Amino acid sequence: MPTKTARRRALTYSQVEAGAQAARPVLHRKGQEIQLYGKIAKLPIALDEKVCAASAENLNQLLADTITLRDLYKKHHWQVAGHTFYQLHLLFDKHYNEQNELVDTIAERIQSLGAISLAMAADVSETTIIPRPPRGREEVPVQISRLLEAHEIVLKEARTMAREAAEAGDDSTNDLFVSDVIRTNELQVWFLAEHAVDVPLVRVDQAKAAASSG
Ligand SMILES: [Fe+2]
Repeated sequence: MPTKTARRRALTYSQVEAGAQAARPVLHRKGQEIQLYGKIAKLPIALDEKVCAASAENLNQLLADTITLRDLYKKHHWQVAGHTFYQLHLLFDKHYNEQNELVDTIAERIQSLGAISLAMAADVSETTIIPRPPRGREEVPVQISRLLEAHEIVLKEARTMAREAAEAGDDSTNDLFVSDVIRTNELQVWFLAEHAVDVPLVRVDQAKAAASSG
């Protein structure tokens, strides 16, 4: 009489598979998009479709620029050099995390409007208006200038977009621009800009002190 192990070996592969079909993952599906980018799948939020579309268009521009600014912080977090390495390495990552929170808030507002948020790097790079940095490493003053310029681009567009959302009656989007985007960016600008003030590290500049007292 064959043993249990011998009986199991005698089974073909399809016999082993039989009886588990319903539990197998269904793979390699292809299909049409259920919603095209730029189209609104209206939700019952008491906002006109045209208002939702206009807000979503602005939010997607801001999303692309916020993703780019976020990633610029991570680039500089990795590539920073010099005697301020440790503090800037930490500060850049703190700002990266705060920008990452904004990315999610902006993207989910777009979805709440019944629109589609940008997501992938290729789409972001086609959309952002923040200048592309070189792949290589830059000095700290250049890193800080580049970040400050990116912040200013975001702040300028966010202020305009906030006004447009308020005029259209989209209060929630207006609140996001003001309470989240503008406030976070302004605070980060302050922390960064103070690193671009040229003050002596150890000794007072005697020549400058004499000139200002005389
Ligand atoms: Fe890190």
